[in-house]
Amino acid sequence: MSVYLLVLFLAVLLHDGKATIELQSCSNPDAVRVAEEALEQINHDRTDGYILTLNRLYDLSRTPNQEKGGSVYNLTIDVLETQCHSFSRKPWKQCEVRELSNIPVYGECQVYVHVDAKVKLQSYFCALREVPATAVLHVCPDCPTADNLNEPVIKETAQLSLQKFNKESQLANYFTLENITKASLQWVIGPAYFVEFTILETVCSKEADVTVLTHCPPMNCQFAHRGFCKGSHVTLEETFIITNPVGKDASSFQKRESVDVKCEIYEPQASTAEEQAHAKAASGHLEHHQHNHTHLHPHEHVHSVTQATDSTIPNPKGHLGRIVFEPASPRSAPTASSCPAARRHNLGLRNPLL
Ligand SMILES: *[C@@H]1O[C@H](CO)[C@@H](O)[C@H](O)[C@H]1NC(C)=O
Ligand SMILES: *[C@@H]1O[C@H](CO)[C@@H](O)[C@H](O)[C@H]1NC(C)=O
Ligand SMILES: *[C@@H]1O[C@H](CO)[C@@H](O)[C@H](O)[C@H]1NC(C)=O
Repeated sequence: MSVYLLVLFLAVLLHDGKATIELQSCSNPDAVRVAEEALEQINHDRTDGYILTLNRLYDLSRTPNQEKGGSVYNLTIDVLETQCHSFSRKPWKQCEVRELSNIPVYGECQVYVHVDAKVKLQSYFCALREVPATAVLHVCPDCPTADNLNEPVIKETAQLSLQKFNKESQLANYFTLENITKASLQWVIGPAYFVEFTILETVCSKEADVTVLTHCPPMNCQFAHRGFCKGSHVTLEETFIITNPVGKDASSFQKRESVDVKCEIYEPQASTAEEQAHAKAASGHLEHHQHNHTHLHPHEHVHSVTQATDSTIPNPKGHLGRIVFEPASPRSAPTASSCPAARRHNLGLRNPLL
């Protein structure tokens, strides 16, 4: 019986010489590999936001490409935001998913991929959204909840964190705030604010005078370092019992504040490409030219090195697709067999909405 069906199916395939949609399955390891590689390329195409991780393959179809060979996959994949910013250019498998305690974001991507010997992303469209706070608080009543990125207290938290980073960093130049990318609030003994933000290298030394620093322009150059920071500002209101010499106790409130920050600084992509070009060039010559990309002063802004060749310039980003934030909409049932695949993460939510 099944052999008969298979023969019939092959006959249909052979009969129709044009593109024929083949039956696929979400448990097919090849399809999963295509989805994983496509997501790598989507993350690579992005210029902002967080790296996305694969939660599951929701649906797919495959159409053989008669002319060019290979085939085109139409994939629907469910994704989750990770804790890595896209500036890090880390492979998504190295990035931890955003858990309930750090404002989880989920969504779906419609992805077209051409596959022959290589997997080549053609286009994508992703719709993302935060997991609703009610769903988070239902299973984690103490978890922080998202705050508006434009709140003055959030901006203040980012500035305080940045100040601490600049003070403690081993880098020569002052870094300025670029964008706040995430903000949340939690009530501990007092309010605790958490921010995530990107920073950009300026042309000023961090030892410069405050008046200089407040007007210091960012290094508007493809060789500027960028960074991604996580900061927090906690205010603790503690009650102290003060015993005075007479032996009478008096209580008093005291405000204690603490600011924490952790930043990762990334090499500019242009310098990585240039280093590769150098390495290439160096292999043909004896001369080895080590270039220093640490910019200390504005006058160092002149690069004597010729532009990297076409093959080493990274492809322009953000050209293959879009990622938008929008509310969930009803989705159609998958058409392929064994779809959707099992979720890799459910974040511990009671009703899986992901
Ligand atoms: C920073 O935020 C602005 C405004 O939302 C946005 O247009 C820009 O792309 C962001 N830049 C980065 C590097 O994230
Ligand atoms: C790709 O799949 C989606 C979801 O199943 C469907 O809406 C869309 O029409 C498909 N595109 C093509 C070209 O088949
Ligand atoms: C690059 O510049 C830094 C900062 O001045 C300096 O410490 C380092 O030695 C330089 N490296 C090279 C290879 O010139």
